[in-house]
Amino acid sequence: MKRRDVLALGGGAAAAIGIGAALTLRSTASMADYDALARQEREAVSPPASARDLVRLASLAPNSHNTQPWRFEISEGRIAIRPDFARRTPAVDPDDHHLFVSLGAAAETLSIAAAATGLPGTLRFEESDGAILFDFAAGLPVASQLFNAIAQRQSTRAPFDGMPLTPELIQRLVEAAAIPGVRLIMLTAPAKIAAVGERIIDANTIQMTNAAFRAELKHWIRFSPDQAIETRDGLFAASSGNPTLPPLLGNLLFDLVVRAGSENERYRAQLATTPCLAIIVSERDDRAHWVAAGQACQRLLLQATALGLKQSFVNQAVEVPEIRPLLAADLGVATGERPDLIIRLGYGPELPRSLRRPAAAVINEG
Ligand SMILES: Cc1cc2nc3c(=O)[nH]c(=O)nc-3n(C[C@H](O)[C@H](O)[C@H](O)COP(=O)(O)O)c2cc1C
Repeated sequence: MKRRDVLALGGGAAAAIGIGAALTLRSTASMADYDALARQEREAVSPPASARDLVRLASLAPNSHNTQPWRFEISEGRIAIRPDFARRTPAVDPDDHHLFVSLGAAAETLSIAAAATGLPGTLRFEESDGAILFDFAAGLPVASQLFNAIAQRQSTRAPFDGMPLTPELIQRLVEAAAIPGVRLIMLTAPAKIAAVGERIIDANTIQMTNAAFRAELKHWIRFSPDQAIETRDGLFAASSGNPTLPPLLGNLLFDLVVRAGSENERYRAQLATTPCLAIIVSERDDRAHWVAAGQACQRLLLQATALGLKQSFVNQAVEVPEIRPLLAADLGVATGERPDLIIRLGYGPELPRSLRRPAAAVINEG
């Protein structure tokens, strides 16, 4: 049983901000404990891999709000990845687009990890129940850069150093991300990045002034190492470059100081130092294509990581329904296509990694 942080609030915003001394801080976990767990979750796997190892690696895939909206079912020669609708995020993702993109990213990671550890197979999306089936058989392990990058990849929500990407490097990213049904738009011209940036800022303003969006975001933030280690999901404050705080204080400060204006400034700083924006567009706007977008996304991110790049998502302009068509028109995206994801790519710092639930917690028994 975890102890609770005890908060003695005097009352009033000013008192709340100077609150450190009024808290009983008995944090049981340190950043060192947190980092040790993050490292353990990313331990290397060498052939022969167990199905549980593969599930652990698949779970390291990027996923919206780090809700990890998946369940895995293991049977002879097959691993099924099923949506966990209990972990949906209806405010930011009302049609479950991000949920299926996250499943696609996990499935692609599973497939890459299995091939590298001697269990190559194929992925198939099941329209009827939204599951992705990975059918595999024993084969020769095939070393791959993408496999080696699985444990290294992270979302880096920080300014980059602004150094440009060479055309050769961009070409390698485009090739790595090639998946049928999905295309990639790579923007490197500062004026084009700035124009998309304005759509992102407009969408962020809408989200940050929406009570349901804010409540959902706050629900998934993990303010302290303790809180993050307890749930092993959600958005850890330090992984976004924010200070860690006792959860009660974090929740209070979120309400008091996290505003559209302050967040927009953070995004402006991130965008101003971004040499490349990758926009993933699917040919059709349905679940099968969202899964494919997730596969392409993870291939892009793993290749970027293997080439020493950092990345972070700035998806606001594809999330807000009023802004998405404006962005699509700016980019010449055809009617019927869907802009799925917007990703910053560049060179930047390393931040604390985010945690994942253990394989045992996401595998269906029986
Ligand atoms: C479909 C999808 C949407 C996402 N949207 C955002 C976003 O808008 N902003 C953001 O900072 N991160 C976004 N992320 C990144 C996740 O928050 C991140 O993958 C998760 O917290 C796990 O952290 P990691 O990528 O460092 O492993 C998104 C990821 C996916 C797959």
